[in-house]
Amino acid sequence: MQTTVKIFNNTDELAHFLGQFIQNGLQNTPEGQFYSIALSGGSTPKAVFVYLAQHFKETIHWSKVRIFWSDERCVPPENAESNYHMAKENLLNHVPIATAQIFRMMGENDPAAEAERYEQVLQENIPGSGAMPAFDLLMLGLGDDGHTASIFPGNLAPFQSAKSVEVAIHPQTKQQRITFTGTLINQAHTVAFLATGAGKAEKVVTVVEHQTGWEALPAAYVRPVNGNLLWLLDEAAGQHLSHNSKV
Ligand code: 6PG
Repeated sequence: MQTTVKIFNNTDELAHFLGQFIQNGLQNTPEGQFYSIALSGGSTPKAVFVYLAQHFKETIHWSKVRIFWSDERCVPPENAESNYHMAKENLLNHVPIATAQIFRMMGENDPAAEAERYEQVLQENIPGSGAMPAFDLLMLGLGDDGHTASIFPGNLAPFQSAKSVEVAIHPQTKQQRITFTGTLINQAHTVAFLATGAGKAEKVVTVVEHQTGWEALPAAYVRPVNGNLLWLLDEAAGQHLSHNSKV
């Protein structure tokens, strides 16, 4: 695994880098195959989606992209809390991608049944070495508490599961979630954490530099087995990182 930390002046520059990363990935995607992207929820991903919709509508070959989600709230798709709803409103409604290339986690379904169903969806639509699909690009946010996807401090079970998709529960709201497991996340060719704002700075340095307390943070266990780990940050989120952590 190679970890790369990139610190940008602002979210637009971060999003521009990610758009170019996707473009490059598509150029290396063989004819007839798709480039698989798992989207995350969160404020930074939302800002990135807005930028991609405005600036990469024409330059990314969306016809070669398949869209999935790394986690979802167990709410209907039209609910404002839905990660699908956020991505649709800010990105998917604004780029030329067919509905057939969008694989929504169905938050309205029974959670356990949906986790099972989505495992099948991944198996059927993403090539991978052996049993576990390998995403081309798996986006993650970082919660202020160090959670990622819907895996929260205090319960690493969904991260360590041998499955690829599990049901989780938000520790405060008790809202049920569907989430990728760490087992699946760590099979990705590239995992990209997107984090901006001073509120992330303390957890970013704890996770990236394995500082005291890292063991309690699910994000610290994201270590792609055969892939690359990208940390895409703004100055505020990366402010505590030591010089040798930065590119
Ligand atoms: C979710 C997200 C979650 C998010 C982080 C960061 O469903 O809430 O997947 O993991 O990425 O909480 O969110 P913010 O960038 O809004 O802090």
